[in-house]
Amino acid sequence: MPRAITSHLVRSSDLNHHGTLFAGRMSEWVVEAAFIGAQRALGIDPSRLVCLKIHGLTFTRGAVSGDTVELRARPAHVGRTSITIHVEAFIPRYGEEALLDGFVTFVCVEDGRSAPHGVVVERPTEGEALRLWEAVERLRAQRE
Ligand SMILES: CC(C)(COP(=O)(O)OP(=O)(O)OC[C@H]1O[C@@H](n2cnc3c(N)ncnc32)[C@H](O)[C@@H]1OP(=O)(O)O)[C@@H](O)C(=O)NCCC(=O)NCCS
Repeated sequence: MPRAITSHLVRSSDLNHHGTLFAGRMSEWVVEAAFIGAQRALGIDPSRLVCLKIHGLTFTRGAVSGDTVELRARPAHVGRTSITIHVEAFIPRYGEEALLDGFVTFVCVEDGRSAPHGVVVERPTEGEALRLWEAVERLRAQRE
C-alpha cells in the first residue's frame, strides 16, 4: 500500500523548555503524516476520515532547532471501517535510527457514524508488514 512522507524544519517556536522539540508539536506532525497516509491508502475524500486514536507514541531521541524531521507513514492494519497507520520519525544525524514511532487509527464516517471504507486488505503472511499488523491486533485487543 502507498506510504506518505512529510518533512518539517524544527524552529525555535517548536521547542520545549529543555531546548528540544516539543512533544506536542511532534505529535501534531505525526497525526498529519498519518492522516495523509490513511487518505492516500483508502483513496476516499478527507472529509470522511476522522482520527479515533493515537496509540502510545514513544519518543526515544530528541531533535533540536535546525534539524529536519522526516516522518514516514505506512498502513499497518486495515479493518472494515478503520485504518491504522504506523509512523516513524527520522533526522539525518541519527541515520536510519528512528527518534519516534507509534500508531494512529482513523475511521471512515458517514453522517457522523462509522461506515465501511470499501478497501479490503488481506492479513500479511510475513516480514515487517506482518509484524506491524500483529502489533495493531494487540492494540485493538487491549481495548476490550
Ligand atoms: C470515530 C467514531 C465515529 C467511531 O465511532 P464508534 O461508534 O466507536 O465506531 P465503531 O464501534 O463502529 O468502531 C469503528 C472502528 O474503530 C475501531 N475501534 C473502535 N474503538 C477502538 C479503540 N478504542 N481502539 C482501536 N480501534 C477501535 C473498531 O474496531 C472499528 O474498526 P473496524 O470496523 O475496522 O473493525 C467516533 O468515535 C467519533 O466520532 N469520534 C470522534 C472523532 C473525532 O472527532 N476526531 C478528531 C479528534 S480531535
